[in-house]
Amino acid sequence: TAIPDKLDVTHETVAEFLEGLTLDEALAQKKIFICDLAVLENLPCKDGRILAAPVALFYVDKSKHLVPIAIQLMQNKGPNNPVYTPADPPNTWLLAKMFYNNAEAQHHQGFTHLGRTHILMEGMCVCTHRNLSPSHPLFKLLAPHFLFLLAINSRGLEKLVSIGGWVDCCMTQGVSGIFSLIAKSVSSWRADVQGIPTEEMKARGVLDREVLPFYPYRDDAVPLYAAIERYVTKVLQHHYDSPSKVLGDVELQQWRKEMVTPVAEGGVGIKGILGDNKVGFSDVSQLIQIATTIIATCSLGHAAANFQQYDQYAFVPNYPGILMAPPPTQKKDYTDSDLLSILPNKSMTLDIVLITKLLSKRGTNSLGDFEMQYMYDPVGVHAAKE
Ligand SMILES: *[C@@H]1O[C@H](CO)[C@@H](O)[C@H](O)[C@H]1NC(C)=O
Ligand SMILES: [Fe+2]
Repeated sequence: TAIPDKLDVTHETVAEFLEGLTLDEALAQKKIFICDLAVLENLPCKDGRILAAPVALFYVDKSKHLVPIAIQLMQNKGPNNPVYTPADPPNTWLLAKMFYNNAEAQHHQGFTHLGRTHILMEGMCVCTHRNLSPSHPLFKLLAPHFLFLLAINSRGLEKLVSIGGWVDCCMTQGVSGIFSLIAKSVSSWRADVQGIPTEEMKARGVLDREVLPFYPYRDDAVPLYAAIERYVTKVLQHHYDSPSKVLGDVELQQWRKEMVTPVAEGGVGIKGILGDNKVGFSDVSQLIQIATTIIATCSLGHAAANFQQYDQYAFVPNYPGILMAPPPTQKKDYTDSDLLSILPNKSMTLDIVLITKLLSKRGTNSLGDFEMQYMYDPVGVHAAKE
């Protein structure tokens, strides 16, 4: 809706990329998008490595493609923080895009992937095991979606997110940076916004197909979430056919209580869970929402964050986990060998290729094709089949 003050962009900066529109017209027509990675500012990276905290503008062109038109690598405008555009010499613009993607890769790994689909969901998983009996209908509904979660998280902590491990070696942020990002990722997550794809995308202004025609994540996540919601609704409405069954279920109420209790008091610290902190859940619809969110985050949310890692990261210049220089502070002409000199060396590149290949492997069956059968009652079995 507006260009923020901190971004040094006027109509003149981007005029030639707007197909005859003024910047104000393009904004009014909802054709301008912004990515502001402010959350990366002053990230405590390994060995004092410096990470960009970029702001980028994108434009939806007449062929309906979303294309980058301006990149400012640091948050605040100033003489040592130029705005790069496609009008710069090709290698200069390429370098700016590499540093932008390098920053986004840290965000992807810490914030989107590990923070929200692994670590946050580990809290939900532990809370479920602590409070619900294995014979509880909600346990049976959630358990298949926690398969291997604790195992992969402890393996990941040991091998990938450990001192000297893969993240330390092959990502700019290193372990110190990724832990800081995970903490921000988890504490800023709300079940009723980030936990629901339509709400999350509405909040970012990208839900409307007329506004942003090509967005495969949205086009897959919205119908998948709706399908999960129908499934969860069938199962839970069958078990909780009156509000008194919700109110009187002590395991369920204790599950909610531990989930919303702050981390400092031993809870999971989840915000945006429906119900009331005195009464707890009072209606099955509140339960349906959080159960759907957990299943969706563990399934479609993780799939979206995880399975394309090889495709994105393995050709390092496309999406560099690490660059061997700080972000540029002045516009210069760059030769091809200048660009090559900031890429990681052969052994680091091989590690990036290898690990992202492993991470992208599908280790579980597809959604609904459960490895473990927990529900045997006709209603549950039928709902899964549907
Ligand atoms: C690659 O770079 C890393 C980090 O600078 C260094 O530890 C490693 O020895 C280098 N490997 C080769 C084969 O040059
Ligand atoms: Fe993963």
